[in-house]
Amino acid sequence: MNLQNRIAVPPCAEAGAPSPIDATGRPLMWGVVATGGIAGKVTQDIALLEDAVLHAVSSRSADSAAAFADRFGFATSYGDDGGVTGYQRLMDDPEVEVVYITTPHAQHYDVAKAALAAGKHVLCEKPFTINAAEAEELAGLAAERGLFLMEAVWTRFLPSINRAWEIIASGELGEIRWVQGDLGFPARQDPGSRLWDPKAGGGALMDLTVYPLTWALGSLGFPDSVSALGTLNSDGVDVQNAVTLSYGNGAYAQLSSSLVASCPGQATVAGSKGWLKTGGGNLHNPKELTVRIGQEEPRVEHFEQVGAGYTYELREVTRCIQQGLTESPTMPVGDTVRTMRLLDGVRAQIGLRYANDAV
Ligand SMILES: NC(=O)c1ccc[n+]([C@@H]2O[C@H](COP(=O)([O-])OP(=O)(O)OC[C@H]3O[C@@H](n4cnc5c(N)ncnc54)[C@H](OP(=O)(O)O)[C@@H]3O)[C@@H](O)[C@H]2O)c1
Repeated sequence: MNLQNRIAVPPCAEAGAPSPIDATGRPLMWGVVATGGIAGKVTQDIALLEDAVLHAVSSRSADSAAAFADRFGFATSYGDDGGVTGYQRLMDDPEVEVVYITTPHAQHYDVAKAALAAGKHVLCEKPFTINAAEAEELAGLAAERGLFLMEAVWTRFLPSINRAWEIIASGELGEIRWVQGDLGFPARQDPGSRLWDPKAGGGALMDLTVYPLTWALGSLGFPDSVSALGTLNSDGVDVQNAVTLSYGNGAYAQLSSSLVASCPGQATVAGSKGWLKTGGGNLHNPKELTVRIGQEEPRVEHFEQVGAGYTYELREVTRCIQQGLTESPTMPVGDTVRTMRLLDGVRAQIGLRYANDAV
């Protein structure tokens, strides 16, 4: 394995680290953009952090922002008003220090750009943007302004995942030769859902592939070449895809994601001596790892987590900002840009295009 490719273990996921909810410094003032599904889940975990202040939330609708603020205890809420978007009003609030962006994918770029222009640190949901050009521009803007910027790949911060990287790096599995990861579910055929909407960046690839990909990156690093197949629906979004990553040493990673199949949602890492498999939840948040070396009895390791599992990435955002870092060593902006380039390459192979590509 190429150790240079290892995903760095964040301090909060190291064995014996304090709970990620423990205060570590000056409280951070949070602003949350949009009031959909993930906004609620992650906000519950932000609220667990002793040094987080739920300061402001924005929505396209003032009512939705106010209801969300009431539900979670934000001090302030902003909706679209007088031709100014709710999110721009949130950016104009001098109290907000870090903005968590939870709009559909296609809007991440605009909102993140507005946040960085307003001098805010940014945690942006996955996929970071629609394409690498957007990601590169945001990376440049954050670097220029000395602001923290991170894609919210929470999986990279979980203790179970970091234990998997530790097992792999220890050599217990031997040389890693093959990785498999899948994620998928039959998504409701709701035309209003962002999952099916090309304008929102819909499709399985953009929504789900980052998680199986995390297993490939953590086990083998970025690949030397990529080949992909995908099935597009009549609106031009992929209903499922199969992506093979190839490595110079002969290793492969096979990744698939689907919006039409009920998948096991697990990862397997196979080496010359043994294998490791996720369990106890999907591959983006496994609570179990099973390791089998040769014909030995399999060993199962179990993991506890604090909150819904987002607390670890939130602790890292807080730590990095408190320490003046502009990126997390565990989820560096460079990895995000490379990931977006990889997804651009897959999309070119399967004919998946979005309106943002034309800009
Ligand atoms: N990390 C994770 O575990 C995880 C899980 C699920 C999703 N995600 C990511 O989080 C993002 C949001 O997913 P979700 O499941 O929360 O979606 P969702 O439930 O559809 O919520 C998205 C919210 O964005 C706002 N919105 C919708 N259309 C918009 C538009 N055209 N322009 C601006 N804002 C718009 C709406 O909030 P308002 O009405 O308040 O404006 C909507 O409720 C996606 O990028 C997804 O990949 C991450």
